[in-house]
Amino acid sequence: MIYLDNAATTLHKPPEVAEAVKNAILTAGNPSRGAYGAALSASRTVYDTRAKLAELFGCPRADHVVFTANATQALNTALYGLIWSGDHVISTDLEHNSVLRPLYDLEARGAKVDFVPADKRGCIRYEDMEALFRPETRAVVCTHASNLTGNMLDIARIGRMAHAHGALFVVDASQTAGAAKINMQGMDIDVLCFTGHKGLMGPQGTGGLCVMPGVEIRPLLRGGTGVHSYDREPPQEYPARLEAGTLNSHGIAGLYAAVGFLLETGVGNIAKREHALMQRFYEQVRGIEGVTVYGDFSSPARAAIVSLNVRDYDSAEVADILASEYGIAVRAGAHCAPRMHEALGTVQQGAVRFSFSYFNTQAEADAAAKAVREIAEE
Ligand code: ALA
Repeated sequence: MIYLDNAATTLHKPPEVAEAVKNAILTAGNPSRGAYGAALSASRTVYDTRAKLAELFGCPRADHVVFTANATQALNTALYGLIWSGDHVISTDLEHNSVLRPLYDLEARGAKVDFVPADKRGCIRYEDMEALFRPETRAVVCTHASNLTGNMLDIARIGRMAHAHGALFVVDASQTAGAAKINMQGMDIDVLCFTGHKGLMGPQGTGGLCVMPGVEIRPLLRGGTGVHSYDREPPQEYPARLEAGTLNSHGIAGLYAAVGFLLETGVGNIAKREHALMQRFYEQVRGIEGVTVYGDFSSPARAAIVSLNVRDYDSAEVADILASEYGIAVRAGAHCAPRMHEALGTVQQGAVRFSFSYFNTQAEADAAAKAVREIAEE
């Protein structure tokens, strides 16, 4: 199989990731819940993973890296923990439902939300965002890159803008963590939400949020933390404040190995390779008669995603042909990004998404482009 659905999850991980999960399943006790060897070593692995992620994302404190089950849980934690009735929030049309649905619900509870519109190429105008700030703007919440088009937002610019207006900046890095350089301090990011199983190349069921010191997030979940057991309220201190219940220390051990691989290989090198594969595929499909490619390819700053449609064919049918006749795995249909589909005009047809990883090859990109050409010519 040629696996080109890396924006959904990376299937090919560094081999040490599976090894680390297996080891942890065989040896890990409950982190923060015991003082014997197996529990202490699980605690150490969890802490070391926080430290590695803090290094990767430029988060000033390892204990401000909080683990969740995925980016959706991280985003829900950040949004419900920071935004109240009467607050104003700015977001964009690029967002995934993991941002949109909490925001729609917060709107129903009395918050006000404005979305910066995207054009037909899936781009926003930063002046439009600037014009939306009001004195009661509490936060800007946006993705680093669209999961549908791969278009990246200039988050350093948005961070500066948010802080100039006294607003918090929450970033959904689901499509870029591990695959693009991110520095919370340099980019004025207050809360960075990430998933472990995409660009970070770790196991599913891992993710989290990095919180800048001084940003106070009210807990979404309440329960056991292993500390302050007689208090009625969860601990004030991060990370325990937002981590009720036993952590996925098996998955986190795999994430530790994955982030080690990323730091050793260099995120810049990974981004370069993925971008070259994406560009190679794009150059071959963009001119095929009957093929419509979505997104803005004029900027080198983009996620390694190419979404397209072939004539007026249903995107799911095209994906089925790619899978059954060519052995190529892609995602089709709606991509949990309804506002983006509206902007692109693909609500009915959906889109066929090809997404590349460090472990793909040029031959795979060429084979996928050839398959698209053949389907379009049939
Ligand atoms: N959010 C993931 C995607 O875009 C699953 O495919």
